[in-house]
Amino acid sequence: MNSKRFRLWDLPTRLFHWLLVLCVGAAVVSGQLGGKLIDWHGKIGLLVVGLITFRLVWGLLGSTYARFASFLPTPGAIKDYLRGEWRGHGHNPLGALSVLGLLALLAGQVITGLFSNDDIAFSGPLAALVGNDLSNRLTGTHHLLSNLLIGLVVLHVAAIVYYGHVKKQKLLKPMVTGWSDGDGQSATGGGLLAFVVALLVALGAVYAASGIWVPKPPPPSAVETPNW
Ligand code: HEM
Ligand code: HEM
Repeated sequence: MNSKRFRLWDLPTRLFHWLLVLCVGAAVVSGQLGGKLIDWHGKIGLLVVGLITFRLVWGLLGSTYARFASFLPTPGAIKDYLRGEWRGHGHNPLGALSVLGLLALLAGQVITGLFSNDDIAFSGPLAALVGNDLSNRLTGTHHLLSNLLIGLVVLHVAAIVYYGHVKKQKLLKPMVTGWSDGDGQSATGGGLLAFVVALLVALGAVYAASGIWVPKPPPPSAVETPNW
């Protein structure tokens, strides 16, 4: 049914986005401050593992505009968009590039974090699976990616402000309320079963990333006392 407003972003996509904003903000601050906050940094990072995994599954099973297939930034779509001929809804082809870039960067950030160490008392939960050298190299990549991520988030927010003020396209309202103004078809699909599947896969990923299953190194054997 066509109407002057339509359902664009489903609730799970919006919850994902705003939880991601909170968690990434907290991860950047706790990572930069380090010290006692580094334990919290690891826990928040595991939440981000869950959120990203959830979104990847939701991109396959979620409702219409949340599906990756509905916003693939193909060269044709980008060309149409740049010529002003793109007539879709949801992430436009340039926005889709930045969304996929953010998701890829976040995946790299959490994967490297899991194997990182702070040279003092904290190691990512999977660091024991790789040697010290590799863990140190991945820590370096983790630092580098965090700077790229901060840069991309600044661009992301600047783009939302630009679209709102210059192009008069209110992208923020649909990400808050779910509704967009215009003549689109309301999103369908992404029901309870899809949500439960995505949630279970996300919980599985958090379990795998938590390293609970990694065998603990044996305690140092007691020094044998000579019996004389
Ligand atoms: C979106 C998720 C994450 C973000 C944005 C993030 C960001 C950061 C930042 C900004 C730093 C400080 C870098 C610097 O001092 O230049 C840092 C350090 C660190 N992060 Fe993460 N991180 C994330 C996830 C994780 C995860 C999942 C783990 C492991 C569970 C982790 C483990 C570490 C460790 C061990 C350090 C300390 C490295 C050092 O002191 O050299 N991070 N992270
Ligand atoms: C740590 C900070 C942030 C991260 C990592 C982030 C990440 C993302 C991601 C991954 C998406 C794609 C949503 C999806 O399809 O699942 C997105 C979309 C969006 N974000 Fe953010 N975001 C951040 C901060 C913000 C802030 C502060 C705002 C508000 C100004 C904002 C407004 C939006 C809007 C309006 C969209 C939809 C864009 C569109 O219609 O194409 N984001 N963001």
